[in-house]
Amino acid sequence: MSKAEFGMVGLGTMGRNFLLNIAERGFSAAGHDIDPAKCRLLEKAAAGTRLAAFDSLAGFMTALEVPRKIMLLVPAGRVVDSVIGDLLPHLAEGDLLVDGGNSHFLDTERRLADLGGRGIGFLGVGVSGGEEGARHGPSIMAGGDPRFYAMVRSIFEAASAKVNGEPCAALVGRGSAGHFVKMTHNGIEYAMMQLIAETYDLLKRGCGLDSDKIGDLFANWNEGKLNSFLVEITSFILKKKDADTGRPLVDMILDTAGQKGTGRWTSQAAMDLGVPIPSIDSAVTMRQISARKQLRESLARQLAPSQINNYELVINNLKDALYAGFLLAYAQGLSLLHAASTETKYELDIAEIAKIWRGGCIIRAAMLDDIREAFEAEPELSNLIGSSRFQEILDAGYDALRTVNTVTLSASIPAMAFAATLNYLTSFRTERLPANLIQAQRDHFGAHTYQRIDREGTFHTDDWEM
Ligand code: 6PG
Repeated sequence: MSKAEFGMVGLGTMGRNFLLNIAERGFSAAGHDIDPAKCRLLEKAAAGTRLAAFDSLAGFMTALEVPRKIMLLVPAGRVVDSVIGDLLPHLAEGDLLVDGGNSHFLDTERRLADLGGRGIGFLGVGVSGGEEGARHGPSIMAGGDPRFYAMVRSIFEAASAKVNGEPCAALVGRGSAGHFVKMTHNGIEYAMMQLIAETYDLLKRGCGLDSDKIGDLFANWNEGKLNSFLVEITSFILKKKDADTGRPLVDMILDTAGQKGTGRWTSQAAMDLGVPIPSIDSAVTMRQISARKQLRESLARQLAPSQINNYELVINNLKDALYAGFLLAYAQGLSLLHAASTETKYELDIAEIAKIWRGGCIIRAAMLDDIREAFEAEPELSNLIGSSRFQEILDAGYDALRTVNTVTLSASIPAMAFAATLNYLTSFRTERLPANLIQAQRDHFGAHTYQRIDREGTFHTDDWEM
């Protein structure tokens, strides 16, 4: 039997689906998992394709053509190191390992250095789209050396989602760029999900609409400029009924959001690079507050929401506010990528990233077409909010965000992401912020000095209290 072109370690749903996807595109591949049941599951699903499954590592390694191209789809963290450790004795110089999990970019840097020293190629690759994406076309964000990407490029492009015939797979940059970009994708995902959740809360508790009606509204929004995967699935979710009670299933779900860490990592990385991403930060914060259920329950009676009467006005403004919120979430995430690229020499092509986010991934949305064009026209754009093509949209969004924030505040409905988003935009549109006072305070208590508006130089005042 001829050798397999591609190998996969980890035959959970993601690994199995990715292999079935590439087999369907005509590639031969071998999968390995220490769990024989997972191997049998793949074999069963793979009947009639050029896929084979091995529970023995030695059998798997011999089944692969040389140089070997092996992808790991295993849980991020220690498991990745342990799998690499198991594979190492079987690898030869020139072989390639691809980590397709949500690994932290610093772990990827460490593995790159270690494997590079041994002559083994390594790519840190973000794969987005969940189980469905892995099976039928994910968005693939690869990072590393172009020579190694060339070894898997045709497979990744074939497996990825396509938008207007263009594959949603690319080498986004050097080093750990793939995992940094995937982490940022997830940060944006957190912000978009939180903005949607706040929209739902305002419509449900503030305006008194039922889940079906809100589902219809999201379905309608998805037909227009808000067209996106997250808006679409929200419309389905809100209309789903619980089989046991007949009530909307979403009402039966405990309101404590989980998180695996990628949103928090985005906030941490942004903090380290000095990049403001408040919509993403507030989404992480709200997941943390949601998890403190007991405390919330004990305080809840103090903050009953008041009903909103003019909900037509709210609905109209919510649409524009959500659109502006999404745009500003992308703006913040992409400004983080811009800064990371400058600091780390990732050499990111932001237009290319916007392009491969248009399909397959969780944050895919119609507006990414415009975002891509903006970065194609101005590759050095540090922040989307500076692009002339978005000023009119942001003007309309600004008014809508103000209305939504006024309503949520008066109704005592928490909307931290909407508030952060509005204040992000307002702050950037404010020529003179009160940071002059902060500078004076710093100089008062720590002689930290300040600059003046009327002449060059650094100044210090000794006698602030006289
Ligand atoms: C994707 C998702 C995927 C996963 C997140 C969920 O792009 O396919 O982002 O990576 O669903 O890890 O993250 P949380 O558990 O942190 O919400």
